[in-house]
Amino acid sequence: MFREITPSEASDAIDLIGKDWMLIGTADKKHGNANAMTASWGALGFLWNRPVCICFIRPQRYTFGLAKENERLSFSFFGEEYRKALTFCGKESGRNGDKLEKAGLTYSMAYGVPVFDSARLTVIGRKLYSDEIKKANFIDMSMLKNYPAEDFHTFYICEIERCFIKNR
Ligand SMILES: Cc1cc2nc3c(=O)[nH]c(=O)nc-3n(C[C@H](O)[C@H](O)[C@H](O)COP(=O)(O)O)c2cc1C
Repeated sequence: MFREITPSEASDAIDLIGKDWMLIGTADKKHGNANAMTASWGALGFLWNRPVCICFIRPQRYTFGLAKENERLSFSFFGEEYRKALTFCGKESGRNGDKLEKAGLTYSMAYGVPVFDSARLTVIGRKLYSDEIKKANFIDMSMLKNYPAEDFHTFYICEIERCFIKNR
């Protein structure tokens, strides 16, 4: 009667973010360019009658300050051939110079955020809501192992305004 499936089979979004990873892109107004960081935690869903993308940013990321300043964020998804570039953007900080140039990722600015030439899927999100993860709100306290330095994420719930896929 019922066949059990995995969470990944139930929703493509789980592996899209968790396994393929994404770049959270922001404008860097102070330097007149853009920055992006790799993220593998997040969600795509439906909230307040809108399609949404949710991302989680620790306070020590350079992206943390940029995300606060930006009205929109871009969420970019790439093919496996860009794994090295995404690994780089997940280690290097934009605080130390133009990381996207070093990663060899070209982009143009649209809607105030970077849209990468090589992304197979680009999502433009407008920030609707933000909050910090709070220690006191954990129901399963074992999740605190993700925060040995108590560097709790700030999360952004963004309305998905535009989506682009790359023409081949
Ligand atoms: C696979 C992978 C996933 C990551 N996911 C997240 C995440 O969801 N949230 C976060 O704050 N940092 C995450 N990071 C770490 C940031 O990408 C990393 O610290 C990056 O250098 C921050 O760049 P920035 O300082 O230019 O913002 C991840 C790193 C990797 C390699």
